[in-house]
Formats: sequence, C-alpha cells, structure tokens
Amino acid sequence: MNQRATRSTAAGAGGNGRLRVGVIGLGYWGPNLARNLAGSERTDLVAMADNRPDRLEAMGRLYPACALYPGGQELLGDPDVDAVMIATPVRSHYELALAALRAGKHVLLEKPFVETRPEAERLIATAQEAGLVLMVDHVFLFSPAVQAMMQLHRDGILGDLLFIDSVRINLGVFQQDTSVLWDLAPHDLSIIDEMVGHPPRGLVAVGAAPAGTKQHSVAHLHLDYGDGLLASLHVNWLSPVKIRHFMVGGTRNSLLYNDLDQSEPIKVYDRGIDFSLDEEGRHGVLAAYRSGEVISPRVARTEPLQNLVNHFADCISGAAQPLSGGAQAVRILAILEAAAKSMGDHGRYTELEV
Ligand SMILES: NC(=O)c1ccc[n+]([C@@H]2O[C@H](COP(=O)([O-])OP(=O)(O)OC[C@H]3O[C@@H](n4cnc5c(N)ncnc54)[C@H](O)[C@@H]3O)[C@@H](O)[C@H]2O)c1
Repeated sequence: MNQRATRSTAAGAGGNGRLRVGVIGLGYWGPNLARNLAGSERTDLVAMADNRPDRLEAMGRLYPACALYPGGQELLGDPDVDAVMIATPVRSHYELALAALRAGKHVLLEKPFVETRPEAERLIATAQEAGLVLMVDHVFLFSPAVQAMMQLHRDGILGDLLFIDSVRINLGVFQQDTSVLWDLAPHDLSIIDEMVGHPPRGLVAVGAAPAGTKQHSVAHLHLDYGDGLLASLHVNWLSPVKIRHFMVGGTRNSLLYNDLDQSEPIKVYDRGIDFSLDEEGRHGVLAAYRSGEVISPRVARTEPLQNLVNHFADCISGAAQPLSGGAQAVRILAILEAAAKSMGDHGRYTELEV
C-alpha cells in the first residue's frame, strides 16, 4: 500500500508546534494509542503502519489524513514523523525501535520492552547518543489512581511499607510469543518499582501451563526487597473472574487499589497491628489491633494513555524526564529474567543481577 497523498493539517513541530507521531502495529492496543494521539492537543497522529492490510484500511478510514504504510520499516522513512509508538508483538520491538532511533525518531515502545537486557541496553545507548527520548508504555504509572497512591506514599500516609500484594487475573488473550508473566506482570512491576524505589534482592517464581499451552498461563512471583518487605504477584489468564487488586500494607495505614472500581479505586484503611515489646521485654511482642476509618480519596478521571501521550510530548520538548524510561525497563527485564531462572529451577530463590 502506498502512503497517502495528503495531510489535512500543517502538522509538525515546525508548523503548529505539535509533535508528529506515527503508530506501528494496529492490532488490539495500537488503536488506543492512535486515538489518544489524535485526541491530544500536544500531538498529531500523522502516520500508521501494519502488516495486515485489513487493519491498516480500517484505521485509515478512521483517520483519513494519516499516511498509511504496509510495515513499520516503511513508516520510519517518513521525514514528517518526529516520533513513533510501537505496538507490535514483543519479538519485533528491538529491531523496530533500533531502526526508529537510527532514523532519528523518538520512541515509545509497548511493554514488555524487549526480550533481553543486552537489547535494552543497546537501545538506551543508541537513544542517548542520538539525543532522543526512549520510553516504555508502563501505562499504569500514568493512571490517576496509581498517581494518587504514589502521592499518599510520598506524603508518608502509609508509613513504612510492610508488604505489597497484587492480583491481576482474568480470562486472558493467549499470546504466541509471551507468557502471562511477561504480558501482565510489567504493569505491577512498574508500580512496585516506582513505589519501593530500589530493585529487589532476589525472588521466587513458579509458573504453569495447565491447559497445555506452550507458554505459562498462571504465575506467582514473590519479590524480596530486604528488611522483611515482600511483594507478591499473581497473574493468571485462566481465571473466570477478573480481579485487579493491588494492596499495600504500611505501618501507619494500608490501602487497596481496585482498578475495576470506577468510583472509588483507592481505599485507605486505618487498620493494622501495632507491635511493641512488653514493659521489661520479657514476654515478647505485644500486638495492639487498630480498626479505624476507611477513606477513599478523590481520583481524577483522565484516561491514563492521554496522560502518557502528553508526558511523552513533554519529555521530547525537554519539559520532563521520562517516568517510565529505559532504566526502569531494564530493572523490570532483570526481574523477568530472574523469574524465568527461578521457574526453570522449580521455584528456587534466585538473586537478582542488576
Ligand atoms: N500497555 C498496555 O496496557 C498494553 C495492552 C495490550 C497490549 N500491549 C502491548 O502492545 C503490543 C501489541 O499487543 P496487541 O495485543 O495489540 O497485539 P496484536 O497482535 O493484537 O497486534 C499487533 C499488530 O502488529 C502488527 N505488526 C506486527 N509486526 C509488524 C511490523 N513489523 N510492522 C507493522 N505492523 C506489525 C500485526 O499485524 C498486528 O496487527 C505488545 O507488546 C503488548 O504487550 C500493551
């Protein structure tokens, strides 16, 4: 398919000051990126690419001013594109992102970032050398509910972290080249990375493919952050019910983030156990139970992807530093790689190599 002949607006950073962005991959997720790019005041959606003509044509009808390309590499030759968002399966991320950076385009890559750490490090180095922005779509970091949760933590409302427990399960779309851990866990791992502020020391992971699929469809991951802080994740594509619970226990308060609760996604519980030594320290630890208020802070309703698109534009203009940049992507890859090792060794405790 040829690129379209006209663009409807004088798009471009040099024209209307907006960032001109192309989307590569128009399957399930790419159209969400396209919609948010087209809907942002900071960006123009100027080009789209997909290997499948049916998808390209359908999207072309929605955005008739957009240039259409039959593949990602072809789109990268478009001089009117300043930046690309890549929403193809993970096996193609590295090659497309490297080619995009070499073509002088800023890049936002879908999660999971790439398949190996050396690939990630090469992309980071290439972006740095070229002075280009390289980000990963850890979209939950841009969710108003998650941002409210981070603010509560920064404000000391939770106190010291005692535990993190996350359940992300539903009847999932099976992927050929990805396990449930690589598909779903990056969401929770990015939130935990931002919240804890340092990588885990080690982990224990188990996974299973009970339906006989090539890739694991059920996985449990326990991350040891030291000082008794354990973060546990359960991801599952076989669950008949959809659950998105992220619970954080703190010494002052605890909270539950329920991503499926539209009206009150965050609830802060003044409930917990205060431990103290008895007077002479002879009879051991005393436990006093607290059962106070439950508060649900107000959370804005902006779409996370809209926040992400605007943040990407801010990073490119120099107004912000990437919240989900290459360094975070590498930390998460290190966890996924260690988890694969632990799973291969029947859930053995595996230290992280960071
Ligand atoms: N951030 C999120 O919440 C989120 C949600 C869903 C998917 N994703 C990620 O988005 C990516 C895509 O997932 P999906 O579910 O949309 O997959 P999909 O299979 O539905 O779509 C991928 C599309 O990419 C096209 N494609 C493949 N190689 C290409 C190439 N070289 N050039 C142009 N087009 C090409 C395919 O034809 C297909 O239409 C994955 O990395 C996935 O993990 C992220």
